[in-house]
Amino acid sequence: MVPRTNSLADYATKRFRRAGKAYLEEYDPFFVAIDSARREAEAQGGHFVSFANYDYLGIAGHPTVKAAAAAALESLGVGALASRLVGGERSTHHVFEESLAQFLGVESVLTLVSGYLTNVTTISHIMNIHDAIFLDELSHNSIICGAKGTSAATIVFDHNDLDHLDFLLREKHSTYRHVLIVAEALYSMDGDIVDLPRLIEIKDRHKAWVLIDEAHSIGVLGQEGHGLCEYSGVDPAQIDLIIGTFSKTMASCGGFIGGKAAVIEWLRYTLPGFVFSVGLSPVIAAAAQAALQIVQKETWRIERLRHNAELFVELAREAGLDTGPAIGRGVVPILFADSHETLAASRHLMSNGYYVPPIIQIGVPKNQPRLRFFLSAAHRTEDIRGVINLLARRPSQPSVSTQPVSAAT
Ligand SMILES: Cc1ncc(COP(=O)(O)O)c(C=O)c1O
Repeated sequence: MVPRTNSLADYATKRFRRAGKAYLEEYDPFFVAIDSARREAEAQGGHFVSFANYDYLGIAGHPTVKAAAAAALESLGVGALASRLVGGERSTHHVFEESLAQFLGVESVLTLVSGYLTNVTTISHIMNIHDAIFLDELSHNSIICGAKGTSAATIVFDHNDLDHLDFLLREKHSTYRHVLIVAEALYSMDGDIVDLPRLIEIKDRHKAWVLIDEAHSIGVLGQEGHGLCEYSGVDPAQIDLIIGTFSKTMASCGGFIGGKAAVIEWLRYTLPGFVFSVGLSPVIAAAAQAALQIVQKETWRIERLRHNAELFVELAREAGLDTGPAIGRGVVPILFADSHETLAASRHLMSNGYYVPPIIQIGVPKNQPRLRFFLSAAHRTEDIRGVINLLARRPSQPSVSTQPVSAAT
């Protein structure tokens, strides 16, 4: 029997220590107030450049997006004020879902209040006992939690290793009634992509369903930003479910599910995270709709993002930095030997006006700490050259233990 701790506060303290709290005593780069940091830097004649925000196409501050949000606020108010099923919806919901479906090339779309929630509720709702979910080992936490929230079996394949997936499906598929394969279009910590044509071939052969998380690929992959299907030359009708978020390219927040009309209609009446949660704020729907129109109209932004991300990877590799498997689109990591070195690199960048918090302990394997860069069409060439130069010439670190000093209990 595990001894009980005295209180939730004691328990929290212990868990936080185990999670690596000691690193924060070394350097705490989290929760930076980026608006005031930018103001202060500029007031002193310096600069503050963020590589920590996924405004891939640089439209977060676009006047059209702001104007659309302001107009919706004025005419409709902030909140949806109830679940859309029972509280009714605003015209912005329907208009936005229709345009998104058209953009994605799917029959129908449903929007929810969060991208994270969308994965959790969709996966846990669709899959049941006697079913199995096949997940990439580096899946986003929302996918893992969706799988944990069902009585379906979870089977993990090695990252982006479709031979391994195929092998596991051959071994185990017949045991289960329904099988769902989940993959990310552009992996959020590594910046690599799944081989979609091969994945479709495998899923068809094994009569499985496939869910592709396009959180980081809409507006990023493909010449027109339609995502992984466009990039890979695959008809979106071959994907059972496309999931995404408005928090990245579409500069706001909220999630969506796209697929066949029959599937979305079923979810519209039954999906717990939709039915039992408030509808997307009409302000957000209007802002995201305006952002979507900009993605389609100003395709030069997609090209600019590609140029910036490719330049970043090229310069990093020339400087001997490890960008892992990144293909050079929106997300590029730079991997370090240990967490201390990663913290020191982040601190060095911050003291020179570049905001790139470290990803250590949480969200990535503990032995693969990194600085994760989100590239944007809004970055200037000198921002990219500047940050790589600083990393390449950073002061060398005294060697230290790779374990947090006081996290040993
Ligand atoms: C792959 C992936 N899926 C889903 C989400 C959740 O999206 P949101 O932050 O908009 O809730 C994220 C978040 O970054 C993500 O990286």
